[in-house]
Amino acid sequence: MLRLDHLCKNFGGLPALSDVSFTVPKGKVTALIGPNGAGKSTLINCITGVLPATSGSVLFKGHEIVNLASHKISALGISRTFQNLRLFPRLSVLDNVMTGLTCEGGHSMIMAMLRLPYLRHRERQLKLRSLEALDYFDLSDKIYWPAEILAYGDKKRVELARAIVGKPDLLLLDEPVAGLNGEETAAVGDQLKLLRRAGHTLMLVEHDMDLVMEIADQVVVLDSGRCIATGTADEVRRNPLVLEAYLGRMEATA
Ligand SMILES: Nc1ncnc2c1ncn2[C@@H]1O[C@H](COP(=O)(O)OP(=O)(O)OP(=O)(O)O)[C@@H](O)[C@H]1O
Ligand SMILES: [Mg+2]
Repeated sequence: MLRLDHLCKNFGGLPALSDVSFTVPKGKVTALIGPNGAGKSTLINCITGVLPATSGSVLFKGHEIVNLASHKISALGISRTFQNLRLFPRLSVLDNVMTGLTCEGGHSMIMAMLRLPYLRHRERQLKLRSLEALDYFDLSDKIYWPAEILAYGDKKRVELARAIVGKPDLLLLDEPVAGLNGEETAAVGDQLKLLRRAGHTLMLVEHDMDLVMEIADQVVVLDSGRCIATGTADEVRRNPLVLEAYLGRMEATA
């Protein structure tokens, strides 16, 4: 589904990603883990065109997408959530989710102003799909609430609904359960498992190792911008390089 080859990203000459290469298999869940500052969010930002890569290649379904504009990458079938929420605070929950379908509007402003019956029909379809996505994340009773008044856990789930509504081939989630309580984490974990069962390909950045152990088919470990291990959750947990990356970090902050 996705192949990264020697991907590098520098910020002002300092490397945040160095020579990162791995593949994300279709229909599986890949977890991207690593200590704070390892480069996980930077990697997601480079894949989705939010940040330009310095060098290297990103192949998605066989097409080179490195440094394409983010709306083009999204139209090709990659969607994402952000580590720090990016909702439109004044828009309703439903409208926030509908923005995940902007690529599918397929009409000009003049057509929209004419309010053609075809467009009204199309809008109803998009609304129905958004309602389905909201139902999937148990938000049906809050669709007209402005996003800004939602509790944090609900905001995270609105982002997830917006990410899945366009039925992307690849879903990139940057810390989808960070800040959620145990019950909310378990619920989102179940919803992610269902997405995988439905054939979606997922890559998630996650610090919650219980969730990673439970849902990841493959784990990729980044440390200081380098990919230091890939394998099953059990394999990477026993890898001395991974232990050193985490334990070294803990000793440094002790
Ligand atoms: N826009 C930016 N400008 C300059 N440096 C940046 C920028 N974004 C990230 N960095 C640096 O790149 C490195 C990787 O940051 P990144 O946010 O990707 O880490 P992360 O693995 O997502 O960490 P966390 O687990 O804390 O979210 C860090 O040293 C960070 O300070
Ligand atoms: Mg991050």
